[in-house]
Amino acid sequence: MQYPITRNRRLRRTEAIRNMAAEINITANDFIVPLFLTEGSDVKENIPSMPGYFRYSLDGLNEELDMIQDLSLNAILIFVKVPNDKKDNQGTEAVNSSGLMQESIRYIKKQAPDLLVMSDIALDPYSVYGHDGVVTDNEIVNDPTLEVLSQMALSHAEAGADFVAPSDMMDGRIGAIRNALDEKGFINTGIMSYTAKYASGFYGPFREALDSTPGFGDKKTYQMDTRNSREAIKEALMDQDEGADILMVKPALPYLDIISEMRAKTHLPIAAYQVSGEYSMIKAAAENGWLDNDSAMMETVISIKRAGADFIASYFAKEVCTLLNN
Ligand code: PBG
Repeated sequence: MQYPITRNRRLRRTEAIRNMAAEINITANDFIVPLFLTEGSDVKENIPSMPGYFRYSLDGLNEELDMIQDLSLNAILIFVKVPNDKKDNQGTEAVNSSGLMQESIRYIKKQAPDLLVMSDIALDPYSVYGHDGVVTDNEIVNDPTLEVLSQMALSHAEAGADFVAPSDMMDGRIGAIRNALDEKGFINTGIMSYTAKYASGFYGPFREALDSTPGFGDKKTYQMDTRNSREAIKEALMDQDEGADILMVKPALPYLDIISEMRAKTHLPIAAYQVSGEYSMIKAAAENGWLDNDSAMMETVISIKRAGADFIASYFAKEVCTLLNN
């Protein structure tokens, strides 16, 4: 191929040609909407570090569910904020069958039966230490945590969750959860594994939203090291063998290479999580007039999909779909 016979600009000349030649198209099917829930009634709370994002109490959720469905979005991922007096080191509230998470799953499946409900599995919002697992002598202990996570997943499945989404990064959790679900007959409850979840500085706003900042240390003994990519593939192959249905890479934008490599090495669907900090940095820059919100937002979600993600958990989901409809 050479100039002047080949002129690349021919395929860029008009919007119609560009649309026809585009390799990636974004639709509502590409998204999972994260939802933050809190106890109480009539609550719609601002999250200061996530402009435009809110925490809802269950009774105020209907309008939000309608809006999500009106935009043809199909899937939500639920997180709950737990009051301090319900936090401990054992995840007691995490396995409570009438806890806020379990009630929320039941409520949403009743209100909006067609909406796919995915639920976060990890102890951090429930932990006095803000860690994803059980703590013994300042260590996050792997195997005792598996038991709690399995019970937690089971309680979400019983409440009606379509997919459980373990975000804890303990070793062996996918197999343990799959076993626990199958033993009780929940053979159709899926597992979306946070397979390559990196110890990231971009989770800050989320931890503010859920009041789940680690009380001591950091999460580097269980979340992955930014410097590594081979390890992500090792995690992916192990999760696949243990029975994961969907593999996730998180955060998204700083890890596009991981998404792309994982896409090449497995046949499972790949999800990417465009995390809170990725959202907030665009919002902050846009509020200052330094970036155009819509074009930066679209560019990031397109890049994530182009890298190989089949779908994206994103705080921008509603905004993107609103923009696509206009
Ligand atoms: C908890 C969890 C975290 C996120 C999703 N599940 C935070 C963490 O690991 O500290 C982060 C999501 C975001 O930043 O949007 N296990």
